[in-house]
Amino acid sequence: MSRLAILGGSPRFSSELPVGQLYFPSWDRYEAAMRGIFERRFYTNQGPLTNALEEKLRAFFGVKHVIVVANATLGLIMAAKALNLQGKVIVPAFTFIASVQSLTWAGIDPVFCDVDIETHGLHPASVNRLIDGEVSGILATNLWGGACAIEELQKIALERGVKLYFDSAHGFGVEAFGRRLGGFGELEVFSFHATKILSATEGGCICTDDDNIAARLRNMRSSYGAGPPVDVPLTSNARMSEAQAAIALMSLEDFETNVENNRLQSAAYSRTIAGIPGVSLVRVDAASKSNFQYVVCRLDEDTFGMSRDQLLIALKCENVNVRRYFYPGVHRSIPYSEAFSQCNTFLPNTDKLCTELFQLPVGAMVDVDIAAAIGELIGDISEHAGEIRGRLSR
Ligand SMILES: Cc1ncc(COP(=O)(O)O)c(C=O)c1O
Repeated sequence: MSRLAILGGSPRFSSELPVGQLYFPSWDRYEAAMRGIFERRFYTNQGPLTNALEEKLRAFFGVKHVIVVANATLGLIMAAKALNLQGKVIVPAFTFIASVQSLTWAGIDPVFCDVDIETHGLHPASVNRLIDGEVSGILATNLWGGACAIEELQKIALERGVKLYFDSAHGFGVEAFGRRLGGFGELEVFSFHATKILSATEGGCICTDDDNIAARLRNMRSSYGAGPPVDVPLTSNARMSEAQAAIALMSLEDFETNVENNRLQSAAYSRTIAGIPGVSLVRVDAASKSNFQYVVCRLDEDTFGMSRDQLLIALKCENVNVRRYFYPGVHRSIPYSEAFSQCNTFLPNTDKLCTELFQLPVGAMVDVDIAAAIGELIGDISEHAGEIRGRLSR
């Protein structure tokens, strides 16, 4: 075993290993796609590639409408407006801040709800307790290539007369409760950011089976060509360009291959991490099929011998970038922290997950051998936990 970099050895990896999919098609395929855009002289405003992408995604998701957008954040803001939400919406604080910011941009007050310690999605009984006359909706998240308690949340939303929709930014291609994500609730929003399993470099889409919601979303997506008048006075620019759609179409062609590569990497992590006390891979049990978009681990500080953040420093010295995801919880982030500290709400599961979880490199820049080597490295670090703690406290 070579000496750990944090203890004076050389880094195990010569260049930095990133977190996130970072899909790149071959140069030849990219060049052919861009040549087509140049020949057609059509950059944006629902060109042939954007329309083809929507068509293919409609078939993929098995839903009536797919509205591609510039990114999922804009998609979430548009969703809140298209659903005509008012007052308050229940949302987890254990999520990427964009979920909550989308409500703020739409003029809605977020009501933070704790998550289930297993699914990491909204805890249904807590949601039910929080619904009052001012709550008009529930924004639930499907994280890590898994799913939250979708069916229970649907039952609650129906019984209590509030609208349920999903931030499924991590959920492309995931199957749960007998079908593919995309058709649950009023609508679902997906991200096609470069780090995601389906990449448009930047991008996303909204899926819905509701004609009226779809018409409102299309109207909001573009100030041009908004189509037949609908009762939405708002328009914006969340258009996806042809260049983004070209990458997304190639990424869609390679989707199953990329999922399989991620699955193998995840299995290599699982094998090598299995015997290390205090570390475990987060399982995404509620999904019958995952996209293996993320490899998320949980660290128990007492058993492992050092904190999650100390482990991250040791890995960074080896050129392994590991992300605290999500950290801090949105309830502890500006602009929400002050109001949250004054209300009498506690989010124990959220706070626990925010200090215990980390995300390992996976995707196009990683392979099975690299994943196994990182897993073994974590084992080496655990064996030197005392020495490393001493070094970090100096
Ligand atoms: C849970 C969640 N929601 C929303 C987003 C925002 O997606 P985008 O970057 O496409 O705006 C992300 C991005 O990582 C996310 O993780």
